[in-house]
Parts: sequence; structure tokens; C-alpha cells
Amino acid sequence: MFAKLYSASVNGIDGSLITTEVDVAQGLPQIAIVGLPDTAIKEAKDRVRAAIKNSGFKFPVKRLTINLAPADTKKEGSAFDLAIALGILAANDVISQQRLQDFIILGELSLDGTIQPVKGILSMILGVRELNRAVLVPAANAAEAAVVSTAPVYGLASLAQTVSFLNGEITVKPHRKDIAREFEKYSRYEVDLADVKGQQFVKRALEVAVAGNHNIILLGSPGSGKTMLARRIPTIIPTLSIDEALETTKLYSISGLLAKNQALVATRPFRSPHHTTSDIALVGGGSNPKPGEVSLAHNGILFLDELPEFNRNVLESLRQPLEDGYVSVSRAVKSVTFPSRFMLVCAMNPCPCGFFGHPTKECRCQPHRIEQYRSKISGPLLDRIDIHIEVPPVNYKELMDAPAAEPSAAVQKRVEACRSVQRERFRDSGIFANAYMSTRQLKKHCALDEPSKHLLRLAVDELGLSGRAYDKILKVARTIADLAGAESITQEHLAEAIQYRSLDRSIMH
Ligand SMILES: Nc1ncnc2c1ncn2[C@@H]1O[C@H](COP(=O)(O)OP(=O)(O)OP(=O)(O)O)[C@@H](O)[C@H]1O
Ligand SMILES: [Mg+2]
Repeated sequence: MFAKLYSASVNGIDGSLITTEVDVAQGLPQIAIVGLPDTAIKEAKDRVRAAIKNSGFKFPVKRLTINLAPADTKKEGSAFDLAIALGILAANDVISQQRLQDFIILGELSLDGTIQPVKGILSMILGVRELNRAVLVPAANAAEAAVVSTAPVYGLASLAQTVSFLNGEITVKPHRKDIAREFEKYSRYEVDLADVKGQQFVKRALEVAVAGNHNIILLGSPGSGKTMLARRIPTIIPTLSIDEALETTKLYSISGLLAKNQALVATRPFRSPHHTTSDIALVGGGSNPKPGEVSLAHNGILFLDELPEFNRNVLESLRQPLEDGYVSVSRAVKSVTFPSRFMLVCAMNPCPCGFFGHPTKECRCQPHRIEQYRSKISGPLLDRIDIHIEVPPVNYKELMDAPAAEPSAAVQKRVEACRSVQRERFRDSGIFANAYMSTRQLKKHCALDEPSKHLLRLAVDELGLSGRAYDKILKVARTIADLAGAESITQEHLAEAIQYRSLDRSIMH
């Protein structure tokens, strides 16, 4: 006796169809699973046997061969349990073979026969969507499946319930989710830039950074509001599109990070890994490659708080994702690519004690200790950060009665307008924002008049700015000019950009 069913698997972030064949033959009772299964799939034998028995069905005392096709793709996870169990029951004539052909079947089984949620449902369903087959999924994954499926989605709780449903003994209502509605419902932030009192200068720097997609570092003493400000950056970036949301949701889905019944990640992610994090946790990898923080921050913000505390090799590993917008992980069994286009936001204290430049507290650090502390973050990473901004401590309690600050939506509107100027400028050049300009593009789009050239020379020579800062100042000045709606960069724009290079200024001066 033989049964054939359809399910899906995920490789990297892309899903594809997997056929499960079950053959039941006379012979010594045993189960063999073939088709490059991983350990979790091999263990399906035990889960499936127990689940079938505990759901009140007979387990055939025969020789079972289960083949997962195509045979040359490595398969992993526990999502095949339900298909294997139903295949065995169909081969045993408990359910109709014919009926099973209509579905894509996904789900992990507990020993008692309940169906457990699995990771990567969104990618799997997207990968088999064009087949337009109805979908059987764990109840907890139904919302996620329903936002992308074009065919009906049935969320199921147990093996027994699934059998009754397939045999037409009970009806199960298909789970419906309208992606546009779902998106609308969740695309709101719980925080707003208006929550931050004062700090006009810092807010302006954040607006410039987001407008040109410049990476930024915030320097400030403990409690000055760095984390609070950083958390609000997602709210001033142009709204996430549905396509971007799906891309980000895939990464959360395969990492098992969607909450129960959460259908979409509809706001820009904000990831804040601790400084003790490993390079694998940050950029992804492992023997079964998983997305790292850089990918979970895809289309959003990666926030590295207390930057000097991170391990140097961990920071070094950020180079490729920052440069390319994706991470490739190769392992013996497979190689996968995860997208990782994020804006980098870093924070640090201005000195080891944290109070350098504080208006009321005294800094006890020797100048050379401060230099040493700051030099910990020099090099390749600092090279990719265009804007350095000092966050002064404010007495926000005093500011509580101040007039309401500007809401995120107003800032976002200006950023959106500025981005459309940049999209137009870079229409055919493969980039979308000023931060990514090449040397040639800099020459073309950032020409300076004589007074501006003079000012820049003065800054580089006399303020002790490094030559490295030169390009960054030009890029940021371009963004400032764009925000002002100006054709060309003026001294005023340039002067503002020069202010955003705190870390280039030697504190020994
Ligand atoms: N400008 C402000 N307006 C309103 N509240 C503020 C402001 N600045 C700080 N706060 C309050 O102070 C708290 C501490 O700020 P936050 O955690 O962002 O500081 P931090 O600079 O990240 O400090 P640390 O260096 O210790 O991480 C915030 O949660 C907020 O309640
Ligand atoms: Mg903080």
C-alpha cells in the first residue's frame, strides 16, 4: 500500500515543495525515512508512532518506507510529522488517498497527537503558493499562513481532528486574513519621537541620518537618552512596504520569532544585541545556518549599545553585511544567503567614566585614557559611520511641561520627500541614498563653490579632522542640502555636516 502527500520545506529564506511518499509492505516491522533527512526528521518515527496510537488509531505492524522528495535537497525540522502520520493512516485506509492530494500539509506532532507550531511557515507557503492547493497547518501558524496563501488555510489542533476533517465528519472553517488589513492593523509604533523632550540638535541629526541612510553613532553619558532616541528611529524612516514586511517576516518566521497568531512583522525592526554577543549570533551561521541579528534587523535598525565593549572580531564580522546588504553562510551541507540591509546605530559613553563634557558632573578620566577608549572603535567599522553626535544630558523633568514636541509622522514626511529626491538622482545607478555614493558619484553630485572649499579645508587642517572624514562630510552635506530642497551644497550645509564629526576631533586639543 502506498500514499503520496505534499508538504514544503525551507532553505535559507525560500520555501519549496516536498513530496512525502509512504510505502507499507509486509516484512519485519520497522520504519525507514529516506531523502536526506536531518536528526529531527529521523526522530519523527517515534513521535509519529506515539501520536497515531495515542489518537486512537492502529499503527501498522509492517515495514514502512518514507521517502521525502526531491531526494537531493537536505531537509530539516519537524514540519513533516503530520504529513508522515497522515500518509501512514492513508496507506492503512483510515483516510482517503484521493482527498490528501488536495492539500499542502505541515505540522509537528506531540506524542499525544496534538499539532505543534513550526518555524518558517511563511516562506514555505510562499514557496508553494502558485500550486494553489489548500493548506493544513498548526492552529498557531494559521494567521501567518493565511496572509500569503491564495488557497484556503485550515488551522488544526490535533491528529484526530485532522483525520475527522479529512473524512468529512467535521467541518473546520478556513482561516482568513487580508494582508492589507493585517498590515494596517500592525503597522503602528508604540513609541514616538515626540516622547523625547528637548534634544532638538540630536533629533535633527537623526533626521539627517535617516534621510540619507547614513549610519550614526550617539555619544552621551548614562541616562542622557541614547537608547530612548535610538528606539524611535524606525518611526521616522519611510513606512515599510508590504513587500518589505513580507521579506522581514520570512526571517522572523524561520527563526521562530513570530508570536503566536502573529501574521506579519509590519513595523521596521529594532534589534539591540548585547555586547557579549558572538559573531555567529550577530551575522548568522551555525551548522544549520540561521539568520543573525543583522538579518533580523533587515529593513530596520541594528543598534549596538556600548560599542567599545563589543569584541573586535565581532565588530569586524559586520563588514560584509554592511557593505553588501546580505550575508552568505556556507556549510558542508548547503550555502544560504540571508538579506541584511539595515541602518547601523551605535551608542557609547564619551569616556570610560561616562561624564566627559557633562555640564554638572566631573569627568575623572585622563585625556590619554579617553583617547584610548575612543580608539577601540576606530578602523573599519568607524569608517562606515557618517554621523557622530553628542547627546547632552537634559533635565527632562523640567521639560515635562514644555510644548509638545514634533511627532514622528511630521519628520517622516520630510524624510520621505528627501528620499524621493535621491531616488530620482540615482535612478539608473543602483543605489537609493546619498550614504552609498562612490567617489565618482561624490565628484558629480557634491561639487563645492570656493567659500565652501575654503571652509572644508579649514576644518580638515585646523580642527584636526582626519582626511577620512572628508568624503563623509560631503555625503552628509548633500543630504542636508536635499532636505533643504537645495540644488547645490552651500557653506551652511557643509558647516552642519562638519559638526557631525565629534569623534574625529581630538580631545587632546
Ligand atoms: N529627553 C528626554 N525626554 C524624556 N525622557 C527622557 C529624556 N532623556 C532621558 N529620558 C528618560 O531617561 C531614561 C533613560 O534614558 P536612556 O535609557 O535612553 O539613556 P541612555 O543614554 O541610553 O543611558 P545608558 O548610557 O545608561 O544606556 C529614559 O527611559 C527616559 O525615561
Ligand atoms: Mg542605553
